[in-house]
Amino acid sequence: MTVRGQFITFEGTEGVGKSTQLANAADTLDHMGVDYIVTREPGGTPMAESIRELLLAPRDEPVNEITELLLMFAARAQHLHTRILPALERGQWVLCDRFTDATFAYQGGGRGVPEERIALLETLVQGDIRPDYVIVLDAPVDTGMARARRRGELDRFEQEDLEFFQRIRDAYLARATAQPARYHVIDAARPLAEVSEQVSELLKRWLSRSAVR
Ligand code: TMP
Repeated sequence: MTVRGQFITFEGTEGVGKSTQLANAADTLDHMGVDYIVTREPGGTPMAESIRELLLAPRDEPVNEITELLLMFAARAQHLHTRILPALERGQWVLCDRFTDATFAYQGGGRGVPEERIALLETLVQGDIRPDYVIVLDAPVDTGMARARRRGELDRFEQEDLEFFQRIRDAYLARATAQPARYHVIDAARPLAEVSEQVSELLKRWLSRSAVR
């Protein structure tokens, strides 16, 4: 019997170093001999990547928050059912750059969509599937936005103001506090080597825990 892989997601506001830590996590799994895929949301399949382009493109037309929410979950349904679940069932781990916690943080905390509405779509699209472990990279929003701005042109989300990102940060921290067994918050304002070390340690610990379950 194949043991189902672990579903690990990386979350945080803009510019907290998720891409660097995903690469570091992939290196760590290589060293541990774990088979895995790395993917992202919104996106992760050709169709979901097309939806990502629709979502991120800056546009003059105001985007209704429910339109945004439905597109996030449309992309997620495609990604989850055609890519993530088949990988987990093959026994691969899935390292995913953002998942539904981002929806609760951005569309919930940021845009003000009531949590119960998001939870309805979460159940519709995911049933009872949730990430096994969520690593939240946390840093003051002004530090992160400064990093995001240095990367170049800003997408539709990155163009929002600091208060928007502060609400998102608060929403992530509230979710992590509410479910401490499944979430781990890392201080991403620490020097890079320390953050990387912590992420690697968490994954090693998670591997030994998932091996005994
Ligand atoms: P990225 O820049 O981290 O790849 O994420 C793309 C943007 O999409 C980012 O600004 C966060 C946003 N987003 C949401 O608003 N809701 C979601 O559910 C997800 C997955 C991402």
